[in-house]
Amino acid sequence: MRVLSGTQPSASHLHLGNYFGALRQYLALQGQHEALYFIADYHSMNGVRDAGERRRNTLAVALDYLACGLDPERAILFRQSDLPEVCELAWMLSTLTPMGLLERAVAYKDKLAQGQSADHGLFAYPVLMAADILLYRADLVPVGQDQKQHIEMTRDMAARFNRVYGAEVLKIPEPYILEEVAVVPGTDGRKMSKSYGNVIAMFAPAAEIKRAVMGIKTDSTPVEAPKDVKTPLFQLWALFASPAEREETFARAQRGGLGYGELKQDLLARLLAHFEPMRQRREALAKKPDEVEDVLASGAARARAIAAPVLAAAREAAGLGGPRSASPRR
Ligand code: ADP
Ligand code: TRP
Repeated sequence: MRVLSGTQPSASHLHLGNYFGALRQYLALQGQHEALYFIADYHSMNGVRDAGERRRNTLAVALDYLACGLDPERAILFRQSDLPEVCELAWMLSTLTPMGLLERAVAYKDKLAQGQSADHGLFAYPVLMAADILLYRADLVPVGQDQKQHIEMTRDMAARFNRVYGAEVLKIPEPYILEEVAVVPGTDGRKMSKSYGNVIAMFAPAAEIKRAVMGIKTDSTPVEAPKDVKTPLFQLWALFASPAEREETFARAQRGGLGYGELKQDLLARLLAHFEPMRQRREALAKKPDEVEDVLASGAARARAIAAPVLAAAREAAGLGGPRSASPRR
């Protein structure tokens, strides 16, 4: 079984949504299966328009992954743009992708609603994402709930390619979504997302984390009154608690007598303690950017060994290149 997933380098720090919704699953799966994880720098071109910022963010995501325990011995970590061949497969898929399918993409509609301009790249985003997955014949794609529709579109595109060109070249992938962390709420109660400015970034300076935690939206229920535990503060706190602690604290909240201030302090303490060893590892690694670059370079070489035969088979099936050799002359 082959696992693959990607994260965009569109912010300088990953947040709790990325960690619980995606990264933790990456780490759990790296021991059990062949795993490829990449930094989607081509995708980030839709939002980030500064070269230096993209480079810094790409390094930051690599540091976040490695600090959290991604092990380059067990998983292939690479940068999307080190394999430009993905753009060739994206082109092949785009010729088979109906406009109507892309127009239904929820992520695209959301971004438009937030006021992002409707560039072709944003519209074609799911096609590039499909190419990411199909180029490496991934079986399983761990992501948060928000990406599920993109995986469904990927399945559609793969099936269509295989049908049109009469060959089983592309593998139909499955999403892997853990229900209990499918949507981590942000400090304002909407989905935690960097585009909503409601994130808690676990490797941000401690003062910033504190500000974010203290700013989690609560209502004006007095300390002694019963509390609704299906609110962002309780849901975020629960991510750092054992089932027994959860049961006890939720019961106390429902009886009344647990104040929001107390719970925020406890969440802050748990959060900082949870990420402290990773923060230290990250600081040490950040002093050795060359080593990180070496990890990415070796990851790209390993990824290419997987991708090359898939792309060659796709070219062959589609009748691209000369009749004897499906790979382009370089
Ligand atoms: P953002 O929404 O902040 O732009 P990304 O879209 O870059 O985050 O997400 C990277 C990964 O993290 C994806 O697999 C996504 O599903 C997951 N993810 C992001 N936010 C959340 C969240 N609030 N809850 C669960 N998973 C999330
Ligand atoms: N679209 C994903 C996100 O915003 C990132 C991504 C790009 C991805 N290509 C992928 C995720 C392939 C999984 C597989 O989170």
